[in-house]
Amino acid sequence: MDHFLYRDGRLMAEDVDLAQIASEVGTPFYCYSAATLTRHFRLFDEALAGMDHLVCFAMKSLSNVAVLKLLGDLGAGVDVVSGGEYARARAAGIPGERIVFSGVGKTREEMAQALEGGIRQFNVESEPELLALSEVASGMGATAPITLRVNPDVDAQTHEKIATGRKEDKFGIPIARAREIYAEAARLPGIKVIGIDVHIGSQLTSLAPFEAAYGKVADLTRQLRADGHEISRLDLGGGLGIPYTRDNLAPPLPSDYGDLIRRTVGDLGCEIEIEPGRLISGNAGILVSRVIYVKEGEDRTFLILDAAMNDLLRPAMYGAHHDIVPLVEPAPGVEYAPMDIVGPVCESGDTFAKTRSMPPLKAGDLVAFRSAGAYGAVMASEYNSRPLVPEVLVHGDHSAVIRPRPTFDDMIARDIIPQWL
Ligand code: LLP
Repeated sequence: MDHFLYRDGRLMAEDVDLAQIASEVGTPFYCYSAATLTRHFRLFDEALAGMDHLVCFAMKSLSNVAVLKLLGDLGAGVDVVSGGEYARARAAGIPGERIVFSGVGKTREEMAQALEGGIRQFNVESEPELLALSEVASGMGATAPITLRVNPDVDAQTHEKIATGRKEDKFGIPIARAREIYAEAARLPGIKVIGIDVHIGSQLTSLAPFEAAYGKVADLTRQLRADGHEISRLDLGGGLGIPYTRDNLAPPLPSDYGDLIRRTVGDLGCEIEIEPGRLISGNAGILVSRVIYVKEGEDRTFLILDAAMNDLLRPAMYGAHHDIVPLVEPAPGVEYAPMDIVGPVCESGDTFAKTRSMPPLKAGDLVAFRSAGAYGAVMASEYNSRPLVPEVLVHGDHSAVIRPRPTFDDMIARDIIPQWL
């Protein structure tokens, strides 16, 4: 459920008319609903009620500091994967004890930054990383709390590019070698083993792969405890999918997911962490764009928008589907026609949808891409020297620009012409 609904024929973000924001901010822009973000965070928090737990928002999905502050104020932790994300989380006021550091290639600088600033745990993904962390932490006279991310060799049955839990994927340590590597970790200075981490992929639409992975984590917990390790925390990753179309089968709900967690690992007495990204932010955001031209091709109609692949990369990168709806609700009974919906960037990959059935639209009309809150603005670039797309946050009848559109001068001022040119 989200808070982008038609009211009196106009698409609203909560109680704000999106066309009004468009006239103030210009297009394209991202718009997020505080009510939806709040609701989705609480769904997870409630799903784990009764268990000692922390919901760590995967901020890679949406990392604007205002959004992090909103979630942090609700009690969320965050999952970060870079020094930049760590700095953003801290800038949003999230304390170190609510920040977990994931990622397959943490640098020594990033390790030191997090140890200095405070960290809940590092999710370590390899032996070389473990050795580096031991050196960095002991060199600072610090102790790094860690989990080891295990690769359970479970197929998440999702898009090839976002499956992370099969043995051929670059993530985690092979679960078969876990006992050996935990033994090594326990011997290293500057390292304190506290638990196990797993994350098998993103946009999962069935609970079965989670069940398989969490079952393996439960078995491993018992084995490691028998080996003498204190396993008090399980980080179960993120990955629960969202409905991208109104008509497809809805993925499982956070409450079903919470029940699964209770069933698979609930009896171990561990503190539970989860790292949802998309389910919190995805349907909490839309991308609003204006039609520049409607162009009649030889055998099709092209709807040319002012948003492009640099603003929303998912269709070009994963062939992802986003519903695209006009800001003015189509009158009942209007005739829909197939259109190719494209951006202005100079490559054919800059296509959002092919032969999409659309109501009549003309130049100047506004449309919204739904479910664009996750992996939207964060994956934007300035390709074709198109300034980074701005972001707006709505709360009730308030709206605020939480990242302005850079001017051309802002963009160009970052480049430096050397003196010898
Ligand atoms: N934890 C870890 C360690 C992750 O790598 C990810 C996502 C998450 C949590 C959050 O997963 P979520 O709950 O959002 O599914 N750009 C792609 C998605 C990449 C996901 C990367 N890792 C897309 O647009 O579909």
